[in-house]
Amino acid sequence: MNDSLQNQTISADEWDELNFPRAKVQEFDRVVERAISRRGFLGGALAFGSGAAVMGAGLLSGTTAAQARQVSRFAFEQLAPQTDGTVHVPDGYEWKVVVRWGDPLFSDAPAFDAQTGHPAAGADRVFGENTDGMELFANRGIQLLVVNSEYPNPKINLPVGQLGSVISADDVALLQQIQGVSVMEVAESADGWSVVVDSPYNRRIHHNTPMMIDGPAAGHDLLKTAADPTGTRSLGTFNNCGSGRTPWGTYLTCEENFNGYFGATADVTADARIVAQYARYGVSTKTSPGRYNYHGFDPRFDVATNPNEPHRAGYIVEIDPWNPASTPVKHTALGRFKHENAAYALTPRGEAVVYMGDDERGEFMYKWVSRDVYTHGGDTSTLLSDGQLYVAKFNDDMTGAWIALTPETTGMDAGEIAVFTRTAASAVGATTMDRPEWIAVNPTAPEAYCCLTNNSRRGTLQDDGTVRGNAGGDAMTVNAVNPRETNKYGQIVRWRPVGGDHGVEAFTWDLYVMAGNPLVHETGLYAGSANINAGNLFNSPDGMQIDTTGLIWIQTDGDDDNEGDFAGMGNNQMLAGDPVTGEIRRFLTGPNGAEVTGLTWSADRRTMFVGIQHPGAPFPDGAGGLPRSAIVAVKRSDNALVG
Ligand code: FEO
Ligand code: CA
Ligand code: CA
Repeated sequence: MNDSLQNQTISADEWDELNFPRAKVQEFDRVVERAISRRGFLGGALAFGSGAAVMGAGLLSGTTAAQARQVSRFAFEQLAPQTDGTVHVPDGYEWKVVVRWGDPLFSDAPAFDAQTGHPAAGADRVFGENTDGMELFANRGIQLLVVNSEYPNPKINLPVGQLGSVISADDVALLQQIQGVSVMEVAESADGWSVVVDSPYNRRIHHNTPMMIDGPAAGHDLLKTAADPTGTRSLGTFNNCGSGRTPWGTYLTCEENFNGYFGATADVTADARIVAQYARYGVSTKTSPGRYNYHGFDPRFDVATNPNEPHRAGYIVEIDPWNPASTPVKHTALGRFKHENAAYALTPRGEAVVYMGDDERGEFMYKWVSRDVYTHGGDTSTLLSDGQLYVAKFNDDMTGAWIALTPETTGMDAGEIAVFTRTAASAVGATTMDRPEWIAVNPTAPEAYCCLTNNSRRGTLQDDGTVRGNAGGDAMTVNAVNPRETNKYGQIVRWRPVGGDHGVEAFTWDLYVMAGNPLVHETGLYAGSANINAGNLFNSPDGMQIDTTGLIWIQTDGDDDNEGDFAGMGNNQMLAGDPVTGEIRRFLTGPNGAEVTGLTWSADRRTMFVGIQHPGAPFPDGAGGLPRSAIVAVKRSDNALVG
């Protein structure tokens, strides 16, 4: 398999590893027996409830025997793990496809061919590829589903004979248009949910859509390019992973692995500091085609000629779904990193709080607090433009603090903090985390959760005998919040701000769940926490939403081979968790090969919209069709509320 083909089939992290190899893992001769054990978790005392501090308890707040006997809140029987090529839901529920990659948003869209997909011409008129974060907005009977399309699958999207190689400007144009964001009006009829084709609200936002840049980095030298000497206007939003929403009705799309779109056609002559930052963020300076080969055909993505273009991606982008003519805004105040999602809270004073994860091994968790306060009906146009960015430090005693990233604490100017945020966070000694994915704020209690999906390098040693670091060299030492060496299953951390105020710097934390496999590992940390059992096995928690009743919906993006350490887990899935008892129950399974990601509800909360990304099977069209990422609508058969 040549380099470019191999690049089509690997994850973003694996791609980083190929392009930025770090020292090989050596067998970790474990000398530190952590003061944590599965037995300890099982016996841990618990404190739950609104704002309750969890001090002196076990790290994990899984079920105690008494809690396990409590009546379950779940209105469904647990679904067994599945390994086939379709979606499953519990008895009493049903699912139906709403929209698939290539389905028309406009009647002039190109037709979708079951074997070849669709051409580049008109690719901005169809629903995008690799559905991810999504939110539903409702107003006066109109419902808009706003959905990210994270990245392309060149082997599937491009002509079959090319085997995924990007060999023309047309190929690049096709890929650029099937990513980004789709805004779609949706409606329910007797046949189920579908897109309202040609709705005036329908819109595609992609890799060439004009954007505005605001916040402390707007106009900074680091953002200026030949095409935009002002450093305030850019084209495109990239690798749109998770989502967020604001109380004022805008959509937040989160730019994750933006680095993967860049490369070089010649030696890179940018100054050493910029090249060092390419390494921190994984921007390639290689001339090989890479995954998408944009730089081969679109000079904007060639860092040999446009060294600042990568600085214009990696942000939280705000979109007004109700105004198709609006220009999306890149909010540099919220930092530049591999943004997973954006989880929103308000302080008692009305400041906007946005929690964010940086999804890469050993990167950090962030919080941003607005300078101004939100008032219903007030001007919200600059609320996300000015505020304070913080990074999380987790102490082993189950306390923690949000550390402000300022010129004083980092030695960087405000614009540099906004662009080279990872370096700013390293400067204040933030805690390296096991790949922070989605964060969710509980609307029924002052607490929030983050999926730490896995980290194959946690606690491993490099050739010189020191513990491996993240891309900035911050050691990924085993610690209480990331307690497992070579963490293959993942955990969900929960924190509670002191006093119940999301604006303050101090918090307490515990682990809501530590995924594991007690069938394979009878004892020890790999058995998982007490709320993991033979019936609800999963690995790599990733997507997460907490519904209005406080139930936690957990989606997975992990190993689905159902063998070895992953035996009994089946395909990727969605589970529901009770925040109080810790009970977790499998609700939905995806087709093999797929990640389950993206979740939102209809206005009447009788439908859940669930994203199925990159199915391996020819889902949902069946044998002979191309695999197509899709959104499915899940309802109770009696049309009762879900979640
Ligand atoms: Fe796009 Fe970290 O998931
Ligand atoms: Ca994800
Ligand atoms: Ca993931």
